[in-house]
Formats: sequence, C-alpha cells, structure tokens
Amino acid sequence: MAEQKALYLTSKHGPFEVRTAAKYKPGSGQILVKIEAAALNPVDWRIQAWGILVEKFPAILGEDLAGTVEEVGEGITKFKKDDRVLTCAPIGAGTQASFQQYALAYAELTAKIPANLSFVEGATIPLGLATAVTGLYDIEDSVIGNCGLLPPWEEGGRGKYKGQAILIFGGASSVGQYVIQLAKLSGFGPIITTASLRNAEWLQKLGATHVLDRNIPLDMLETELKKITPEPFKVIYDAVASPETQNFAYGLLAPGHTLAVVMPVAVKEELKVPEKKAYWMVASFFLPQNRKVGVSLYSKLTALLEEGAIKPNSVEVVPGGLEGIVAGLQKLSKGVSCVKLVARPQETK
Ligand SMILES: NC(=O)c1ccc[n+]([C@@H]2O[C@H](COP(=O)([O-])OP(=O)(O)OC[C@H]3O[C@@H](n4cnc5c(N)ncnc54)[C@H](OP(=O)(O)O)[C@@H]3O)[C@@H](O)[C@H]2O)c1
Repeated sequence: MAEQKALYLTSKHGPFEVRTAAKYKPGSGQILVKIEAAALNPVDWRIQAWGILVEKFPAILGEDLAGTVEEVGEGITKFKKDDRVLTCAPIGAGTQASFQQYALAYAELTAKIPANLSFVEGATIPLGLATAVTGLYDIEDSVIGNCGLLPPWEEGGRGKYKGQAILIFGGASSVGQYVIQLAKLSGFGPIITTASLRNAEWLQKLGATHVLDRNIPLDMLETELKKITPEPFKVIYDAVASPETQNFAYGLLAPGHTLAVVMPVAVKEELKVPEKKAYWMVASFFLPQNRKVGVSLYSKLTALLEEGAIKPNSVEVVPGGLEGIVAGLQKLSKGVSCVKLVARPQETK
C-alpha cells in the first residue's frame, strides 16, 4: 500500500480532518514505522486552540508513537522489519508525526519495546520522559542550562544523589511520573510530590516517598515540606508550572541551583535573584542542545524498560482510530488524572 491515512489540522485554529496521504520512504539513518499507538499530549490541543507553535498547514501533529518497523533506510543495522519500537517526533513534523498510520523515525532516537510492554504503553513514554530528562539531566556539564544532573543511565549516575531531597510539583501528570521514577534511579530521597491524594498509592509505587495534597494552601504546604526537610531544595521540578507553583517553588529553591519548569518561566521580576535560575525546557531531542542526552537515553531505554526501572503511564485507549483523536484532545483539554490517552491509528475506517 503506497497510501496511508493521516489526521490533518487543516489551518490555524481550524478543524481536524482525516485525509489520505502518501506513505514515506525512509532515508539514510531513518526507519519507517507502522504506527500501532499514538499518545495525545496537551500541546496537541493547545496548537489548535491557541494557534501556537505550528505555522504551516495542513499539519500533522502528535509526538509519541509505538509500532513496528515497516522498512529500514540505508545504513540501519540496529533495526529490522517487524521490530517493535517506540520513538518521539518533533512538534508538527509532518513525516515524523504520530497522528497518522506510518511515520519516519530516526534510528538513534528510537528504542525497541521489550516484551513486557504493549504498544499503547510504549506510546506513553517518549515526550513525557523527554520532558523529565531535559529538565534534569545533562551529560556535558550544564551546557543545556537545566538542573545539570548526571543521568542515572550513565556510568556513576545510578544512585548518585543519595540522601538529597527533590520536590516535584504535579507528580501524577505524565511528565511528573517520569520525573519521580528518574529521581528514584538517581538515588534522591526524600522524593516529595504534590498530587490529588487518590493518586498517592501509584506515585509511591513509582518512587515518591511523600505525596502531599495538591489542594492545600501554599502556606500549609510549606509547613508540611519543612516537617519533611528543613533545608531549601537543591532540585525542584515543576510539572504544573502555573505562575502560582513557579513563584512558590522559586522561593523554596536553594541558592546556586535551578528550578525546572514545563511552561514558560513566570517567576516575578521582584523575586528573581542572580544566584537562582529558572529553566523552561523544550523537550525535543531534535534540538542541538538536547540531542546528545537524547541519543544517550535511547541507547539504554530498552534495558531500563525491561528492568522495570521506568514504567509507562496508565493508559486509556481513545476509540475510533485517527478520527477518535479529535474527541480525545477535547477530553484532554478538560483535564485528565494520572492517565495518558492513546489512539490506535490502524483502527481508522
Ligand atoms: N516544555 C515542554 O517541552 C513540555 C513537554 C511536555 C509537556 N509539557 C507541559 O507539561 C505539563 C504536563 O504535561 P503532561 O502531559 O504530563 O500533563 P497531564 O498528564 O495531562 O497532566 C494532568 C495531571 O496534572 C496534575 N495537576 C494539574 N494541576 C496540578 C496542580 N496544581 N498541582 C499538582 N498536580 C496538578 C493532575 O494531577 P492529579 O490528577 O493528581 O490532580 C493530573 O494528573 C503540561 O502543561 C504540558 O503542556 C511541556
């Protein structure tokens, strides 16, 4: 079949529409993936609703995909046809995007899915994990400008931060769940996070030592934090990144350290001091500053998943193939709790 189906965002703020598209041919260093599962991310509904990030239309969105290798390009030895893989796509990158039935992927940013994971579980990993990683880790001594930690999959990284506290806002988000798991691998403790308490048990399973109610007022939260650890935090990851959480988190940060935030920095000018930084990660491993850490992660990812050191998010499958993504994005825009919405593009009628 030389054709496939893709979900197009037809124009800025416009409707989505499933259309027929050409199937791609993998070039050097690339593979063609038959997409069995594509996860939905908040950025996908925001691109449509807010008219951000994508300027060329019609556009295919979707950053997370899992499926089988359909064809390999020149120079590929790591993968063969029918291998089960997961990979990430840059935002709005037509040929690589996941809201279609086939996409191109770069071998060095693709990992085999171990037998203990399904396609839908595999699809929950790429963007959430990349967001956690690009906020926390660097393998070239803080070239990125993030927290500058040594990744746990690098030599000397596992357990390196034993006895150090970490604070994570929004532990039940997809991103937050990967931050908790990486923090555990890095040896952090206590690992403190905020969430709805119904999610506490799952977050503790992932590695959180303390789950604090996201709904308590900030002054009470500060009192609770002081009871757990009186020192300012050297590592804080804000996966909520509202102005409220960012300003609060910045106040809790120790001098000489960096607050990682998932949305643009909103720390008030009057609070800013030179010895404390705030860093908004852009979680694409296709950016030059992130590529090295991304390639390093993907070279070890299959083993980390096989070992259970990184667990996928819980999944809710969105019915209706590519068409179903439209309703799925509406649902996501209203908010989900501790679950990733995933579509199955091959089910498209
Ligand atoms: N910078 C980047 O490159 C990048 C990349 C990916 C994502 N992001 C952004 O990161 C954020 C998280 O993305 P995601 O996919 O992980 O989202 P998600 O899974 O859809 O987030 C939903 C979760 O957020 C939690 N939450 C919401 N408000 C909270 C608050 N005030 N305190 C504590 N928890 C709160 C909820 O927790 P409970 O269920 O426990 O209430 C819910 O489980 C989004 O804004 C997204 O756009 C940025």
